[in-house]
Amino acid sequence: MIPISEILNKDNFSREEIIRLLASENEDRSALFACSAKVKEENVGNIVYFRGLIEFSNICGKNCFYCGIRKGNKRANRYNLTDDEILEAARFAYESNYGSVVLQGGELEGEAFTLRIERLLHRIKELSDGRLGITLSVGEQTREVYRRWYEAGAHRYLLRIESSDRELYYKIHPRDKNHSFERRLQALYDLRDTGYQVGTGVMIGLPFQTTDHLAGDLLFMKALDIDMCGMGPYIEHADTPLWEYRDQLLPLEARFDLALKMIAVLRLMMKTINIASATALQAIDPIGREKALKIGANIIMPNITPGVYRDDYKLYENKPCTDEEAADCKNCLEARIHMSGNKIGYDQWGDSLHFKERN
Ligand code: 5AD
Ligand code: SF4
Ligand code: FES
Repeated sequence: MIPISEILNKDNFSREEIIRLLASENEDRSALFACSAKVKEENVGNIVYFRGLIEFSNICGKNCFYCGIRKGNKRANRYNLTDDEILEAARFAYESNYGSVVLQGGELEGEAFTLRIERLLHRIKELSDGRLGITLSVGEQTREVYRRWYEAGAHRYLLRIESSDRELYYKIHPRDKNHSFERRLQALYDLRDTGYQVGTGVMIGLPFQTTDHLAGDLLFMKALDIDMCGMGPYIEHADTPLWEYRDQLLPLEARFDLALKMIAVLRLMMKTINIASATALQAIDPIGREKALKIGANIIMPNITPGVYRDDYKLYENKPCTDEEAADCKNCLEARIHMSGNKIGYDQWGDSLHFKERN
């Protein structure tokens, strides 16, 4: 077996080499993190960009087996922010110089939904003199809908593939036309063709998932030539079907560690993309997001959802910041990011350098 230090010197990793990196321990693990931290610093610098996250509704038409706000969960307390509440949150982001917002919600389709998002995009652009960048994260839609939203001002889109392995995909989603692996893939291609900066990602530590799957996920992201990634640990939720497999999961700390390694290896494989430090990292480790920023991530999504709704956007247990308001997270994150040795890129879109390179 070749030593890890030699793998780290390569420009391209094989599946086996990725698996070795994901399994690294002790000095090897430290060498991986030192290397990914350096690659981050050299390629995207030590600036962290903010995306104010507005979780505007937890009403979802889908039934993903892992998610606490799945349609079938009768215990979820459903909410839908008013347009004014959403615009108020966007205004907060603008006035706080966050540079960008993310509109995230459950997956819904239809003309009423399309129009609503379209209207919101126009109004967010208006209230910020065109200065706020807008990322959408509202799931699978038709090409036509993606085009309309792009024209209305969205320029980045997040759509996690959740798992790039078809078989595993269907172990964590119902096998029906509402949850088609092929359609999700097609949506990623459509987004790219439309002109968006495209982000995807996976959950780490899912039941039935192996490091081989995870290595495949990283190779998938590389092959898709993505611009952005958001990935974090899977955290079981009691009101979901996958709860049944909770005894088969890796311990939380191991899932956390694997998520950090996934971020580190992806940074080595795709040096100039934007990588988000997922909120779920902080559900496991109180300084989890800072740790990810140190070893490769460069994006943080401060929650700016009005506090009263936060507890209901519960995709997983132990989600942080549910008792806070937007201003609390702002102060908290400023302090945390300075402590992590990074600077905040206020008032900038902080677009993916990779996107610029490929255009
Ligand atoms: N644990 C971790 N992440 C989850 N998500 C949904 N449910 C969970 C969970 N139980 C993630 C999915 C989705 C994103 C919005 O939240 O990856 O794409
Ligand atoms: Fe809906 Fe997304 Fe949750 Fe699936 S993961 S149930 S699409 S909110
Ligand atoms: Fe929300 Fe710290 S980031 S309270």
